[in-house]
Amino acid sequence: MSGNSFGTLYCVTSFGESHGPAYGGVVDGCPPGMALTAADLQQELDRRKPGSSRHVTQRRETDTVEILSGVYEGKTTGAAIGFLIRNEDQRSKDYSAIAEKFRPGHADYTYWQKYGIRDPRGGGRASARETMIRVAAGAIAKKWLRERFGMLIRGYLAQLGPHPIAFKSWGDVGKNPFFAADDSMTKKLEKFMDDLRESGDSVGARVNVMAEKVPVGWGEPVYGRLDADIASAMMSINAVKGVEIGAGFAAVTQKGSEHGDEMTPQGFLSNNNGGVLGGISSGQDITVSIALKPTSSIRLPRRTIDVHGQAASVETTGRHDPCVGIRATPIAEAMLACVLMDHALRYRAQCGDVVPPTKVG
Ligand SMILES: Cc1cc2nc3c(=O)[nH]c(=O)nc-3n(C[C@H](O)[C@H](O)[C@H](O)COP(=O)(O)O)c2cc1C
Repeated sequence: MSGNSFGTLYCVTSFGESHGPAYGGVVDGCPPGMALTAADLQQELDRRKPGSSRHVTQRRETDTVEILSGVYEGKTTGAAIGFLIRNEDQRSKDYSAIAEKFRPGHADYTYWQKYGIRDPRGGGRASARETMIRVAAGAIAKKWLRERFGMLIRGYLAQLGPHPIAFKSWGDVGKNPFFAADDSMTKKLEKFMDDLRESGDSVGARVNVMAEKVPVGWGEPVYGRLDADIASAMMSINAVKGVEIGAGFAAVTQKGSEHGDEMTPQGFLSNNNGGVLGGISSGQDITVSIALKPTSSIRLPRRTIDVHGQAASVETTGRHDPCVGIRATPIAEAMLACVLMDHALRYRAQCGDVVPPTKVG
């Protein structure tokens, strides 16, 4: 199975399955000399980990990370940074009932038909536990980008099923189990999730993520466009079915006089382009929005087939996220950080000596 790496100069590789002994990652291309400890990775992993509230999967994992290489006396050496996170709470018997059936909406059918063999335990390689590796790699990228450019990469849950959640303040995001930027919504969201869990069904969600203080000039037209790489990275997250950059699909009904971001000597007057023009960062905030589908593993009976092609019914018990979007915010932040880090290094390689000729803002 290839396709386990992404990035050009900041290259991330992951391995591991949901019920195997461990997940591991290799980050290649981190510049030398940055202070780095396992705690830097752990604080981001703790934001993503399961079991943090009754509204997410109750799998009990500490997601403790161990750095194996690439750091000497607390500093990155430029060598590949290898790290390991052991699985601690596998309950493989939960999957015996669905080992020979395909859950509608999950990856069971396509993995089986493509490889002719699959590890059904916890979804195997299709499990979103793999996103731990992205979050750890993103923590390294976030740190480097923050130290070098003062860059801030952060996100929030913008919609939970039918409930839009307006942005109120970044301070609210860490105060509730949903990553909602309006903590006054928490009670309503909790009631919604409690009812949903009882019903045995699941819902989708929207997550918004942005990067502030991105310098102008990152991104390589035409096949290495920054927006294309961001979209690819976001679509690679499990269960993501849509990506918008800037105005996104709202651009369909906008007029040119509304969409085009006017400029003044002090800077841009709007950001419909989400901080990317011609595939190159404009120096504005990068704004991204993603749609996550409802969890496929639900308790309600669904029509399917078994591995012999016979009609069957499948009900998925065991421990699952009733809304996968609730834990997706740190994952989306991490993917944006990895792409920006990759493009920071690519910019430095080719255009590091260019001084942008026009001063704006
Ligand atoms: C944070 C997160 C947690 C997830 N948890 C579950 C889960 O508990 N049960 C499930 O069926 N899918 C879950 N998923 C989604 C599956 O990993 C994914 O939908 C599946 O591999 C099908 O492939 P897809 O990526 O095309 O949707 C989760 C996704 C994310 C991002």
